[in-house]
Amino acid sequence: MKQIRRIIKRLAYRLGVEIHMIPKSKMIEELIEHDNIHPLATYSPWNLDKGFGETFSKIHPFTLVDIFRCYELWKLVEQSAKLPDGDLIEIGVWRGGTGTLMAKQAKACGIPGRVYLCDTFTGVVKAGKKDSTYKGGEHKDTTREVVEELAFNQMKLDNVQILEGIFPDQTGKEVKDARFRLCHIDVDVYQSAQDIVDWIWDRMVSGGIIVYDDFGFADCVGITKHVEEQFPLKDRLVFHNLNGHAIVVKL
Ligand SMILES: C[S@@+](CC[C@H](N)C(=O)[O-])C[C@H]1O[C@@H](n2cnc3c(N)ncnc32)[C@H](O)[C@@H]1O
Repeated sequence: MKQIRRIIKRLAYRLGVEIHMIPKSKMIEELIEHDNIHPLATYSPWNLDKGFGETFSKIHPFTLVDIFRCYELWKLVEQSAKLPDGDLIEIGVWRGGTGTLMAKQAKACGIPGRVYLCDTFTGVVKAGKKDSTYKGGEHKDTTREVVEELAFNQMKLDNVQILEGIFPDQTGKEVKDARFRLCHIDVDVYQSAQDIVDWIWDRMVSGGIIVYDDFGFADCVGITKHVEEQFPLKDRLVFHNLNGHAIVVKL
């Protein structure tokens, strides 16, 4: 059954649809907090942005992230070019789709910094009681070589550096002196996200942006909880975006 669900999900991704299945035991509780969301606005600039369209068509087979969030990442990288300094970093790379999209846009916007792409390449880690669906080891169907092929051979990027291992525990030391203008966290579970933010916060420049994938998804409640815990904090602005992103800006 699990295998069939996984196949349906993967097929749907290929058609541009993301399916999130709620376990039966969670149905009643989840349906109160998780309802279908259909924003009424129709403005769709991703359809007209040529640079984005060309890049998205290349990275689409290498990402689990839909066009709406990919376009927002694209525009956030552009916005981050207004900041005077800082590198970019993605934790949770899988096959490299969103990471190379960020790197491509960073180059196009003249951002001189590096783009660090961090993944265990052995799947999700640190799943725990605060998470709903993830148990650990998911998304291990990738390799460093897949990302290298996309970044260096297909996309011809020279601003990418891959950090292999658990971030920050194993690979944080490789970038301990860096400062960051943008951090994309796509790690699916609470503790991983928390450890990343604890490590990176003092290394974010003022005005620096953290963008979370998976915010509000029924199978990533740990990420939603982790972001919501930041709403009261006085040193940041926290935005709930209906597309499945949350955005935090350092004051
Ligand atoms: C949903 S996938 C990332 C999807 C990707 N951004 C894309 O474009 O489709 C989540 C990834 O996070 C990685 N991961 C989770 N926690 C991590 C951590 N603490 N350090 C490094 N990688 C991590 C997993 O190995 C997995 O490849």
